[in-house]
Amino acid sequence: MRYLKRIIYIPFGIWEGLMDFINRHARDIENRKRFPKAIIDKGVTFTPDVAIGERAHLLSGCVINHSSIGSYSYIGKNSLIQNVSLGNYCSIAHEVNMGLGQHPINLVGTSPLFYRKNNTFNISLVEQDLDFKEYAPIKIGHDVWVGARAIIMDGVTVGTGAIVASAAVVTKNVPPYAIVGGVPAKIIKYRFKEGKRDALLRSKWWEQAPGAALKSMEGLDVPYKVPEV
Ligand SMILES: CC(C)(COP(=O)(O)OP(=O)(O)OC[C@H]1O[C@@H](n2cnc3c(N)ncnc32)[C@H](O)[C@@H]1OP(=O)(O)O)[C@@H](O)C(=O)NCCC(=O)NCCS
Repeated sequence: MRYLKRIIYIPFGIWEGLMDFINRHARDIENRKRFPKAIIDKGVTFTPDVAIGERAHLLSGCVINHSSIGSYSYIGKNSLIQNVSLGNYCSIAHEVNMGLGQHPINLVGTSPLFYRKNNTFNISLVEQDLDFKEYAPIKIGHDVWVGARAIIMDGVTVGTGAIVASAAVVTKNVPPYAIVGGVPAKIIKYRFKEGKRDALLRSKWWEQAPGAALKSMEGLDVPYKVPEV
């Protein structure tokens, strides 16, 4: 009987599935037309104000809202990037979350029902939205590597050359070339000694196209073995 009832809805299901399929493919084509110099995989969604640099690669299922993505940076599968300015040559692993947003914590109830006129429940209780900052911008430098499932909280700055370990929760600013990990993230070590870090920052190799960048790295004399701090 349960399955018999379901049969009635099959034509509706076919129609909805078909429309969904067409819509998703149309969106993928529109994305590629919008950013012809980037590589945009299937199922990526953007807000209209997003900027994407040359050869940036967004893997499937990414959601990019109100952000700019630098050239030669990639964002792994199913990452959520909100209100982020991301530099060049960054490597963002899969399922990374940047910019989660906040709910007010000093009201009696934390649900948007009590502070947003338009909310996910379509129930309008309040006459006006509460004047409250839901998001704060995040700044990620150049050549930053963020490990899988890391979370970067609103308002944080991650310096150029830094590494965020997998599953870290970054709540405070990260200095250039630091490696941070844990919950909340703490500095594990630095990639290079201070003098070398300054030299690398001065070089600004990330402003160049890959071929020229590689050439300029040769002159920077970086040891292949990561030194102790
Ligand atoms: C952060 C990372 C780069 C460190 O690599 P490493 O320099 O080889 O570090 P080590 O394995 O020598 O570990 C150094 C210390 O950091 C700790 N550590 C390593 N990874 C950590 C993590 N994800 N979270 C918390 N601490 C971590 C180690 O336990 C060790 O601690 P100890 O000194 O107290 O023993 C690496 O562990 C990592 O997280 N890589 C990201 C992997 C990933 O997400 N890949 C996705 C593909 S893009």
